[in-house]
Amino acid sequence: MAIHFDPTNLSAAMVGEKHGLTPQEVAAAKPAALAALAGFQKSVEKDAYGFPHLPFQAKLIQKIKAYAKSVAGKYDTVCVVGIGGSALGAWALDCGLRGPHPVQAAFSTKNPRMVILDNVDPVFIQSALESMNPAKTLVVPIAKSGATAETMSAFLIVHDWLKAKLGGKKAAAQIAVVTSEATGDLKAFAVRNKLVTFHIPGNVGGRFSVLSAVGLVPAALAGLDIAAVCKGAAAMTKLSWAEDLEENVALKSALLHWLIWTKRKKTIQVAFPYANRLWGAAFWFRQLWAESLGKAQNRKGHVVNVGQTPIAALGATDQHSQVQLYREGPNDKVYSFWAVRKWAAAGKIPKAKTGFDSFDYLAGRTLAELIDFERLATAASLTSAQRPNCTFTLDKMDAWHLGAFLQMFEFQTAFIGEMLGIDAFNQPGVELGKHYTFALMGRKGYDEYKASYDAYESKRAGVKL
Ligand code: PA5
Repeated sequence: MAIHFDPTNLSAAMVGEKHGLTPQEVAAAKPAALAALAGFQKSVEKDAYGFPHLPFQAKLIQKIKAYAKSVAGKYDTVCVVGIGGSALGAWALDCGLRGPHPVQAAFSTKNPRMVILDNVDPVFIQSALESMNPAKTLVVPIAKSGATAETMSAFLIVHDWLKAKLGGKKAAAQIAVVTSEATGDLKAFAVRNKLVTFHIPGNVGGRFSVLSAVGLVPAALAGLDIAAVCKGAAAMTKLSWAEDLEENVALKSALLHWLIWTKRKKTIQVAFPYANRLWGAAFWFRQLWAESLGKAQNRKGHVVNVGQTPIAALGATDQHSQVQLYREGPNDKVYSFWAVRKWAAAGKIPKAKTGFDSFDYLAGRTLAELIDFERLATAASLTSAQRPNCTFTLDKMDAWHLGAFLQMFEFQTAFIGEMLGIDAFNQPGVELGKHYTFALMGRKGYDEYKASYDAYESKRAGVKL
């Protein structure tokens, strides 16, 4: 049971010195990696960041499991209302363990599905409501701030829908809130309406919260094995504190990604899972990487405008959509293939020959072989065009490995944040847009932003292009 990292194709020996790393420069940068490890460890010891502790919260895991057990069999849909870090973790777990929509097994009260309302597209919300039976829907509003406009508005609609169909008392029994303990209007709303509530630790930010109640409550309600997810993440946490880079996948991959990004100017990273079940995790990773590592200033307050743009691509599907660009376009990307060693199904291709060449070489082989060979072939083809790439391999696609994999990326991100000298845990860049939205929707206290927005519109009115 492990996550393996193969960095061979990041090396100068494979892709040339202009695009790849030499053993000498990796060795020279090792002290920076160890300093990042020590720096992050210090912050965690001071309780500044809480995600490394999450997999060890045995009491919380038990509490969530007990709640899920107490309501099991009563609903066929878990309706998550959240956005960003309050939605993507649940999606990564659901997609990873029950399969990507729409090819999950039929949902029922024994096998509830997850419907994630992570947007305020009115047609999407209406269609979602039409697809759910209020009597069999358990609603999980998730917001750390307890104030996010998208989540609050969608929740008001879903709450109203539940109340209209079931009455206030029954509706309240079908809601489990996940929010901060001490702050936010969602918490106050939950108290007033006596709603079951789980709390998010103050030192765990949205995109690092998949192993808190944020990801675990919806996952447990959907019948996923959250204890196994946390066991995998716990094992990865222990490895992620090791100073030996051969043991510490998160630190080694952080070091190499940092070097290839900053020294070889690979400003885009393609997360390239070759498994549909990892597609949700790729979108979760996209947020983790973008919001954590895209920053205007470093910790010293100097303007740095750093960031590496994450892209999600799916193998083998996107070989027929993106690889032309990846191999022949600008050499500004690093590729991270995500592979699964042992498939849960082989996908046996029938043995019978058809007499046609395009079919017959495939007869008797398996889809598992084909998708693996497609990944190896794509890596070889990118390498031959001097495109640096590496591969993460999960021994299996199960709860343990998925937990370990997500936790590895959280450590990797934290370590790179340290190496860049930035705060990987804040997101000041999203605040202005939020404030403008509040102002435009007429929220009290946002007059200053309304004036600033109006000035922007007046300026636009005078510009022609
Ligand atoms: O990572 C983050 O902190 C953000 O992406 C948040 O998760 C996102 O903005 C949603 O915030 P909240 O949980 O307060 O609704």
